[in-house]
Amino acid sequence: MEESVRRVWAALDREAARLSTVTIADLFATDPDRVARCVIEPADLRVDFSRQRIDSAALAVLVALAEATEVAAKRDAMFAGEPINSTEGRAVLHTALRASADARVDVDGVDVMPAVRATRERMARLVHEMTSSGIRTVVNIGIGGSDLGPAMAAGALAPFATTGIDARFVSNVDPADLAACLTDLDARTTALVVSSKTFTTQETMANARSAVRWLAAGLGLDEEEAVSSRVYAVTSNTGAAAAFGIAEARTLPMWDWVGGRFSLASAIGFSLMCAIGPDNFEAMLAGMRVIDRHFVEAPLDKNAPVLLGLVGIMNRNGFGHGSRAVIPYLQQLARFPAYLQQLEMESNGKRADIDGEAVVRHTSPVVWGEPGTNGQHAFFQLLHQGTDVIPVDFIGARRSTATGLDTSDVDSQHEKLVANLFAQAAALAFGAPAATDNPHALGEHRAFPGNRPSTTILMDALTPSTLGQLIALYEHATFVQGAVWGINSFDQWGVELGKALAGDVLAHIADPAASPNLDPATRAAVAWYRP
Ligand code: F6P
Repeated sequence: MEESVRRVWAALDREAARLSTVTIADLFATDPDRVARCVIEPADLRVDFSRQRIDSAALAVLVALAEATEVAAKRDAMFAGEPINSTEGRAVLHTALRASADARVDVDGVDVMPAVRATRERMARLVHEMTSSGIRTVVNIGIGGSDLGPAMAAGALAPFATTGIDARFVSNVDPADLAACLTDLDARTTALVVSSKTFTTQETMANARSAVRWLAAGLGLDEEEAVSSRVYAVTSNTGAAAAFGIAEARTLPMWDWVGGRFSLASAIGFSLMCAIGPDNFEAMLAGMRVIDRHFVEAPLDKNAPVLLGLVGIMNRNGFGHGSRAVIPYLQQLARFPAYLQQLEMESNGKRADIDGEAVVRHTSPVVWGEPGTNGQHAFFQLLHQGTDVIPVDFIGARRSTATGLDTSDVDSQHEKLVANLFAQAAALAFGAPAATDNPHALGEHRAFPGNRPSTTILMDALTPSTLGQLIALYEHATFVQGAVWGINSFDQWGVELGKALAGDVLAHIADPAASPNLDPATRAAVAWYRP
């Protein structure tokens, strides 16, 4: 690590030590303008950092850290299509997928935008073809980034489903997942979308083969006919899709410069588009684009993704918090924590830096969460009174988009939801002392220490545009953290060993003489498992 960077990290440690004796309540008490200073409003989001354990001196050091680690230059290199995914020799251009209509983005001297635009037009045409040919359900078969983004967004935007096509998502190789998905479906009105960047992922290919057999049986066709008439592919391995029998006209490309967990704006979003329609999909991209622009243009200390990333650095590296909860007070964002888990933990769960040296600071915390208010009745006890401090991201909206209920019920329930969000953020930050004057006082049992940090992200309503903004906000915050830690946020070598061993174990199950190098515990488990 360069000496200049080391010095800023040391300054950050000093800031954390100083702030360890200052409470969030003290920070509010000593700065009457704290809320105004700590709320920023990029596009349609309101991001409130006021309940974080930072003040202007700590913020200055965090910004200095971003400068010392060249976050802005690394960001510009990403947007310019430089091969910043160094271990795979690839550009990282999810931002090109939502760039403006007149943009030009070169990879190896070739403008990728005509292909991006043509693919999106093809997606829209295929959605139209599906609706006019009576398709009522698409089953998206994919996993990781080929599932979590579109599944999360389809749930989030359910009130914007305009096409009459229901999108369902199957990911787990557990046959129970596919079986539950197909159980009430009619093959005559169902299409399959096999979403896999590589088209080799074990889970996806196994589910695709089983689903094709179900489709063929339901249609009274042989498998080849079923595939050629009713199966779509999204992949960068178009040869493998063709070998599977999927027609070229139903194969949508993606490119190796789109990482799986950053791929929602690519054709990986096809199943989502099938449900919400091309116009809503475009509105989501426009929402992403507005945050992309903010990320590029806003100064570092007024830049929402930069600040979200830096606050995370303070909590992880300054205060040593190894976990962060993400609690959307919007049931439609139920899958958002799972989506963020891949985005952040697969991107930044790294122990080697960009040069292959061991990192000197901790990298990604564990990210987890459930929607509020449900979480309040499950794990919030630990958030308020447990021995670990777990920073929280609260996400909420002013208005509900829920449909099908009496509107006054929607409004009054939504108000309760929002009141709970605001109350939880306050309770975590400010706590409450043990009630000593109460005859039923239980001393420490009833004390709330407070001083537990959170960020609150609000929007008017969860729409295609605000969802796009939220996604881009977190994508770029993840990038910022990777840049500060000096790691490659765009590879995922850590998933490879398990994949390879699963192949060895499968072979050993089939033939105990195979894979003799498996460890004794695994061999014993296989011996128990075999009939
Ligand atoms: O688990 C690793 C991973 O490669 C993810 O990064 C990716 O999103 C997922 O598997 C699915 O990959 P594919 O789209 O190639 O099937």
